[in-house]
Amino acid sequence: MRLVAALILAGGAYTVFAPGLQAQDTPQLSSAAQEGKALFDVSCVSCHGRNAQGIEGRGPSLIGVGSASVEFQVGSGRMPLGRQEAQAERKPPVFNEDQTTQLGAYVQELGGGPQIPEHELRAGGNVAEGGELYRINCAACHGFGGGGGALSSGKFAPNLKPATDRQIYAAMLTGPQNMPVFGDNQIRPDQKADIIAFVQETLKHEQDPGGFFNLGRFGPSTEGLAIFLVGIVALVFTSLWIAGKS
Ligand code: HEC
Ligand code: HEC
Repeated sequence: MRLVAALILAGGAYTVFAPGLQAQDTPQLSSAAQEGKALFDVSCVSCHGRNAQGIEGRGPSLIGVGSASVEFQVGSGRMPLGRQEAQAERKPPVFNEDQTTQLGAYVQELGGGPQIPEHELRAGGNVAEGGELYRINCAACHGFGGGGGALSSGKFAPNLKPATDRQIYAAMLTGPQNMPVFGDNQIRPDQKADIIAFVQETLKHEQDPGGFFNLGRFGPSTEGLAIFLVGIVALVFTSLWIAGKS
């Protein structure tokens, strides 16, 4: 009797817990994530692998990169990558916004990771504070005017003009390629709003009050050099002209 009771108990316990274990192997995906998986299995598996675990020499693992990274990469047309090159370039996106969100949901549910918050990302952004933060954290690579700049080994920091609010936020949160990650401890979400406000409202509309030539916006050094050269040449020709007259 005891043996039978023990067996039934053990069997019962097994049937109660076993489905839980199986469920962990194949997590239940939400409907958006299932749509995303279908897209992923067509466009991304060749480089990122069956369960986004990555394929040596083709594409990195996407476990833990989060929907923020996917939205950035797919939304800016960098992914799906056409061919292997030093750096994935911005292209017209292949997927529409809904599909991008679905791909993001799939990768998010597979491995978690950073997500772009749903609220208005630029709300309450202070342009002056943003400018300060931009010059400290971003200008070294993206330039004072946001025009971008070259990095080593054929890589470059791109021009910030085409980026949307969500893409700027996602870039800071996920640090694509050679860009460092600016987590919420380093740059708080409200500071991120300041930076986005600065990039979108000041950098993109920056006019050149001095005239047509901004001389690369490198600042007073180039401007001083330019006026020195132009001024000297003008003076030389004026002297020659005066000398020729007299
Ligand atoms: C031809 C191969 C290829 C294809 C196809 C491709 N990727 Fe990638 N992917 C790469 C490589 C290589 C990198 C890393 C290099 C880089 O970031 O420039 C990468 C990087 C990424 C990253 C950034 C990972 C990180 O660490 O933050 C994401 C997200 C991503 N891919 C998503 C996708 C999605 C979604 C698709 C399908 C729509 C896709 N990729 C299709 C090759 C590919
Ligand atoms: C060490 C250099 C470096 C620094 C510092 C840096 N970035 Fe970047 N950034 C990059 C590189 C490299 C890329 C291109 C990544 C890619 O193509 O996968 C990039 C891409 C971006 C993009 C995407 C542009 C596009 O094509 O839409 C945005 C937006 C951006 N950075 C914003 C910022 C902001 C805001 C800061 C400061 C908080 C910052 N970056 C600091 C190197 C840097």
